[in-house]
Amino acid sequence: MSDSVRIAVVGCGAIAHWHLDAIERAGVPMTVVAAVDPAPANAARVAERTGAAPYVSLDEALTVGGFDAAVVAVPHDRHEEVATVALRAGLHVLLEKPLAPTLDACDRILDAAARSSQRVFMVAENAQYWPEVVTVRALVEEGAIGEVVTARAATFFPALGDFYGGDSPWRFDRAAAGGGVVIDTGSHWLRPLRMWLGEVDEVVAALGRPHPRMEGESLCRALLRFRSGTIAVFDAMLTTGAIAPQPLFTVTGTTGELTVEGSGWVKLWDGRDWKGQKVGARGGYLQSYEAELTDFASAVLHGTTPAAPAEYALGELRIALATYRSAASGRWEKVWE
Ligand SMILES: NC(=O)c1ccc[n+]([C@@H]2O[C@H](COP(=O)([O-])OP(=O)(O)OC[C@H]3O[C@@H](n4cnc5c(N)ncnc54)[C@H](O)[C@@H]3O)[C@@H](O)[C@H]2O)c1
Repeated sequence: MSDSVRIAVVGCGAIAHWHLDAIERAGVPMTVVAAVDPAPANAARVAERTGAAPYVSLDEALTVGGFDAAVVAVPHDRHEEVATVALRAGLHVLLEKPLAPTLDACDRILDAAARSSQRVFMVAENAQYWPEVVTVRALVEEGAIGEVVTARAATFFPALGDFYGGDSPWRFDRAAAGGGVVIDTGSHWLRPLRMWLGEVDEVVAALGRPHPRMEGESLCRALLRFRSGTIAVFDAMLTTGAIAPQPLFTVTGTTGELTVEGSGWVKLWDGRDWKGQKVGARGGYLQSYEAELTDFASAVLHGTTPAAPAEYALGELRIALATYRSAASGRWEKVWE
């Protein structure tokens, strides 16, 4: 067994470079052998950075080979075609979230993964590894705020050039993305809620389109009712102007409150310190990618079990789809039916 996973980066856009940054920062045992992208300039950028060979398609890269795994980071409507080719070729696959934009496409990908069961298949939901999220899970479990009463997840973010740049970014195209902010960035705020509060039973939501270029929703105000009966708020917006800082997450319990601050800190508000008490070490969103890629490499090299099975990512997608149904019906919509 090699001591480094030989990978093909399939989709050499914005997040591929965030992955490469994380691999470099954390010394993740991965060696990029192939850089695959139909946009030659994008493949060339990853190839130059890593020493990999550039290809215009995964099929072309497979004819040369030399890699055991694929990190797939392509637009949502391309997930199925690329992931199934990679899985059928016997590669280990780390597929960016969402699993796919429709449940049917998810089923077909999961079916291909099941037929390739000797290989690792992970969905890259980095929030699973976000240090502050992991800290909150431990604090909730140990009763630091008593019983959880309610929670709020809020992601209000500007259209960063990395992800919304260029003449016609696919994220503005509802068909390519499968929706707007809920199906895309929303997953990173929905996963933590599920980690802390369990599975969501039903959703009621109102959506808006304040961003002039976004076809899908650029605003979401939703209530989530969990199977436990707990109700949480999920708010998301692709902003058009300046925004004030607000906690990314608030979890309110019977004896206190936890907040995840954008600064990388978790704060405990239990009445002892009016400024809130910082808990644990300072984390930060970027660390989540390091832990995610380390988990994938360990699963491939050492057979360890990933922090979450790929199927778990169906949860965020189902919440997004229920949100869309609710915005159309004006009613609570079940997530799992
Ligand atoms: N986990 C996160 O925090 C996070 C953040 C951003 C994006 N993402 C996900 O990563 C994926 C890519 O997003 P992005 O922002 O990097 O987009 P992007 O547009 O910057 O990059 C996508 C790249 O895929 C290429 N591509 C298209 N079809 C392809 C194919 N068939 N084979 C190979 N390459 C192909 C495009 O040419 C482009 O270079 C999406 O699934 C997105 O949701 C995750």
